[in-house]
Amino acid sequence: MLNHPSFAVWLARIERALDGTLPAAERAPARLHAAMRHAVLSGGKRLRPMLVYAAGAVNHADPDALDAAAVAAELIHAYSLVHDDLPAMDDDDLRRGRPTVHIAFDEATAILVGDALQALAFECLAQAPAHPKIRVELLRTLAAAAGSTGMCGGQALDLEATGRQQSIDALQRMHRAKTGALIQASVRMGTLIGGADPDTLAQFDVYASALGLAFQIRDDLLDVEGDSAQLGKTAGKDAAQNKSTFPSVLGIDASRRQLDALAAQMQAALGAMDERAEPLRQLARFAVQRGH
Ligand code: IPE
Ligand code: IPE
Ligand code: MG
Ligand code: MG
Ligand code: MG
Repeated sequence: MLNHPSFAVWLARIERALDGTLPAAERAPARLHAAMRHAVLSGGKRLRPMLVYAAGAVNHADPDALDAAAVAAELIHAYSLVHDDLPAMDDDDLRRGRPTVHIAFDEATAILVGDALQALAFECLAQAPAHPKIRVELLRTLAAAAGSTGMCGGQALDLEATGRQQSIDALQRMHRAKTGALIQASVRMGTLIGGADPDTLAQFDVYASALGLAFQIRDDLLDVEGDSAQLGKTAGKDAAQNKSTFPSVLGIDASRRQLDALAAQMQAALGAMDERAEPLRQLARFAVQRGH
């Protein structure tokens, strides 16, 4: 599905950059640093970095200028997963096919790993090789996406909605915040680094907004239809915990139709762009069809 040759290049880049950004596991405090590396260097799909690189490439950004934003997005994502898995939240013991951080280490360490990864994300982004005006805009974009009107806020809505009936509008707002915000910020950072004008930024926002919602709807469907070995995380948890999800509110068929509609929106937003947009087209298909 992601067979464009750029993906292999970008994957190698992000793995190297993440490894180089994280403190060595032996460096004190060694337990915290080992746990941070466990959380990040554990073979995720790296979707958010791929979006930074792909959106940057369409906008003629130099890949060297994109690494810091790609790393920062993945560090925020990894932190969100570590906290999402905590007993106080989704209480999961499996992530990316391995024990979650609070199982492999302990709960207090997992809380600190999240805190430290978030701080490291901004430290890294503050050093992005961009014009100071762009750098401030990158920092503002990522901070807003991570905070109480973005990912954190979405997680709060997720907890509030657990065990309750919620309208489809409220469910969409929750998904756009908890998962969509960081995905949108990733596309926007790539686009900003490419120096895009406001009209272009708006066009990419339409694409990214559809992708963010689609990605979480697909995640909800996979929780119902996938198995734990394939997902690398425990399947069937949403129903077991009475989570408010697309399949639980809308049903499976209507959730799939939503994905079809979002796929069409994404392809329309990319419209007549030339072949440099092919990775973004493939990422759009991946968001709605992926099997893990
Ligand atoms: C899982 O994200 C949590 C959601 C926001 C849906 P991913 O499916 O991107 O997880 P990794 O990074 O590949 O493990
Ligand atoms: C998580 O959503 C969204 C985050 C911001 C981490 P889920 O709780 O559905 O993610 P998984 O299924 O545990 O990966
Ligand atoms: Mg959750
Ligand atoms: Mg979860
Ligand atoms: Mg899920």
